[in-house]
Amino acid sequence: MTDEEDSEDGSEAQRASKRSSGERSDPRDVVRRERFSGGPARDFLSSLAADERIFAADLAVDRAHVVMLAEQDIVDEADAAAILEALADVEAAGHGELPDGEDVHAAIETAVIDRVGARGGRMHTARSRNDEVATCIRYRLREDVLDVAEATLAAREVLADAAADHTDTVMPGFTHLQPAQPTTLGHYLSSYESALARDTDRLLDAYERVNRSPLGAAAFAGTPFDVDRERTAELLGFDGLVVNSMDAASARDFLVETTAAAATLATTLSGLAEDLVVYSTQGYVELADEYASTSSIMPQKKNPDTMELVRGTAGDAAAGLNGLLSTLKGLPRAYNRDLQRAHPHAFEAVEAVEAATEVAAGAVATADWRTEALSAAAGEGFSTATGVADLLAMAGVPFRTAHEVVARAAEEGSDYAACEAAAEAVLSESLDAYVDREAVEAALDPETSVASRDSVGGPAPAAVENALAEARDDIDADAAAVESRRADLAAAENGLEAEVATYV
Ligand code: ARG
Repeated sequence: MTDEEDSEDGSEAQRASKRSSGERSDPRDVVRRERFSGGPARDFLSSLAADERIFAADLAVDRAHVVMLAEQDIVDEADAAAILEALADVEAAGHGELPDGEDVHAAIETAVIDRVGARGGRMHTARSRNDEVATCIRYRLREDVLDVAEATLAAREVLADAAADHTDTVMPGFTHLQPAQPTTLGHYLSSYESALARDTDRLLDAYERVNRSPLGAAAFAGTPFDVDRERTAELLGFDGLVVNSMDAASARDFLVETTAAAATLATTLSGLAEDLVVYSTQGYVELADEYASTSSIMPQKKNPDTMELVRGTAGDAAAGLNGLLSTLKGLPRAYNRDLQRAHPHAFEAVEAVEAATEVAAGAVATADWRTEALSAAAGEGFSTATGVADLLAMAGVPFRTAHEVVARAAEEGSDYAACEAAAEAVLSESLDAYVDREAVEAALDPETSVASRDSVGGPAPAAVENALAEARDDIDADAAAVESRRADLAAAENGLEAEVATYV
């Protein structure tokens, strides 16, 4: 009978007597030790269901590890081949067909041993589930980070396109949700493109630290086997190692920064979503039907529910970040089972925020902006007042005094006559001693007001056009950065597949 045959032959008593008689024990006798996993806490201990997210990652990590073990002559080629073949079979069967286990790592190992016998247990030579799970999380999360970064790129493109369509659309700008100064819809939309550009940056920056390999750290204390950590890192497409083995097994700060980047992005989007809710109320915008919802009782209702859920996602992401930090705070070195509850926070946050980003982008892309309502509202609430004060200040009146003149005017009205009366009262001189009437009337006009604010980053159409040209260059550069990381990962995946093919 060969090693790999799984046989029920021979009673436990016979095997025990073989062992006590000093005969070399049959490795089948020691294949599974269910010592600690059958009790009432079985389900509580197990992360198998949640580990579905890292099923594919674990298979890749197993493959890279086995290839390395064979290359280093730690496992012979026949055993490596048997294990790699079994892994293909386990993959084809899928996560749902895994045997019971404390987690996906144990379950896959059991599934391999079920297929090839005790030699399947050689797969776990020179590693621990501690370095294994840390590697799997990073392997999976880096793809997720790129997915979210890509979603931000698509959203930025949508915002830039919509902004370009509306560089001339004058609208009210608000502070404290009160009419403040006229701006343009292009300037407004471009402001969110700028914010999302930083969100892309934060994600790509986090990626650099996510994409490091902890594999080979074993439980935390390294291994006496002559492992080649650089080789497994290379096979798995990591840009280097988390070197210190204790740090490698313990570190979860990469989850914190990724979740923080996701929560920050969600917070950015929540502001955009809130604006769209308010603008819908004001009749400044109408969301496309696909991005709205209705009431089960009030037939006339069209509600911006998608934007409310985007706004709500920021709360979930912040809660996830908080949960993650609370779990990690004060954990002793090196591995503690609390860590099993850490990474789900990150995965859930990243997944939800990616969906929210896509929905926000879709809503903006399909929104119907009511340009007439926007420009009609642009001058409401004497929103051009600051421009008149600026004019007086340009004519030599100290700004505080100019502010006082226009504040006084605002009590009476928002036209030339009100400004004139206020100038008499505050300056004891007529307004046209400082500025001529035409200039004041131009400043009172929302469109001219906007056009006058043409310095870098301002709302004037030309300034927004310049900003958008730069934004498009940045989007292209970030897209290339995402693309090159994707290409590196795909190359590593193909490389690993080719290595595995030399064994099976
Ligand atoms: N399922 C575990 C986790 O997610 C894997 C590591 C278990 N290691 C251990 N020593 N109990 O963290």
